[in-house]
Amino acid sequence: MEEHVSFCSNETEDLAYGHKPVLLAQCLDALAIRPDGVYVDGTLGRAGHALEIVRRLDGGRLIGIDRDEAALAAAEERLAPYRERVTLLRGNFADVKALLSGAGVEQADGMLFDLGVSSPQLDDAQRGFSYRQDAPLDMRMDRTAPLTARDVVNDWSGEELKRILYDYGEERYAPAIAAAICRRRQEGPIETTLELAELIRGAMPAKALREKQHPAKRTFQAIRIAVNGELEALEPMLEGACDVLKPGGRLAVISFHSLEDRIVKKKLQELSAGCVCPPEFPVCVCGRTPRMKLIYRKPVTAEDAELTYNPRARSAKLRAAEKLQ
Ligand SMILES: C[S@@+](CC[C@H](N)C(=O)[O-])C[C@H]1O[C@@H](n2cnc3c(N)ncnc32)[C@H](O)[C@@H]1O
Repeated sequence: MEEHVSFCSNETEDLAYGHKPVLLAQCLDALAIRPDGVYVDGTLGRAGHALEIVRRLDGGRLIGIDRDEAALAAAEERLAPYRERVTLLRGNFADVKALLSGAGVEQADGMLFDLGVSSPQLDDAQRGFSYRQDAPLDMRMDRTAPLTARDVVNDWSGEELKRILYDYGEERYAPAIAAAICRRRQEGPIETTLELAELIRGAMPAKALREKQHPAKRTFQAIRIAVNGELEALEPMLEGACDVLKPGGRLAVISFHSLEDRIVKKKLQELSAGCVCPPEFPVCVCGRTPRMKLIYRKPVTAEDAELTYNPRARSAKLRAAEKLQ
């Protein structure tokens, strides 16, 4: 298969850009790229997926969106050989329809969203995503956004902290960690990632510290999701993408944890189900018709070969749908 060949030949380059694209061949299959089509990569990152899309275009166009200025700059450099086929936009994919319309793009043949943070964002200590390297508590993907991790940790109530730790981190020690944060901040603000990581470690029972996972992993994930409003952006993104796709156009979404996947699955089912009347109604009164058709019944996951060189793919789930007439 052609996609597999270029996927492998790209590996060294991906390493240089610090992020290996996940489920790349599967995404290219799902998008069924037409050389003259208009494609949107709504999570451009380091352009791992985008580069392979743009290479397949002949007369077509790629629109890359990211909320992170640093990602856009790196992607621009990587896509430079194809500059005449590429438009880059900074913004939140929740506003995908307005962003595209502002660039004069009203319809697309395919749209890809590879959710979450990228490896370079995690690896850049100064961004404050990592519980292993000391840095100011930040965690913003968009460094112009007003809310930082420092605000969440120091200003949100104990109840709110507990809620996000439960809901976004699936952290069973949420009450103990939230209480420890509230106690500590009475002495002064919590400023850095390692300060927070140590505080979390101290709040956990000994048996939790014996787990393979770093004790701060789930709390950091929860705070990151809250800071970036990651879950709130998904429904508007899926609605917007469905509006923008041409009939026959393809949507592909990769999620990395169950919270994201649940929202994507539910929304795609809703868009492909049409009528939402209760089954006991003798006739349809909602008048809704299906707008999309699911391409796969179950999410596509990584094969063993990919997992050997990209462990990050382990939790990836690809869902895809086609726009109907
Ligand atoms: C997993 S990375 C994408 C990696 C990319 N597919 C590649 O192969 O290089 C996700 C990217 O999406 C961006 N992102 C996440 N949520 C976003 C949102 N709501 N709007 C726009 N960009 C977002 C992040 O800043 C990050 O650069």
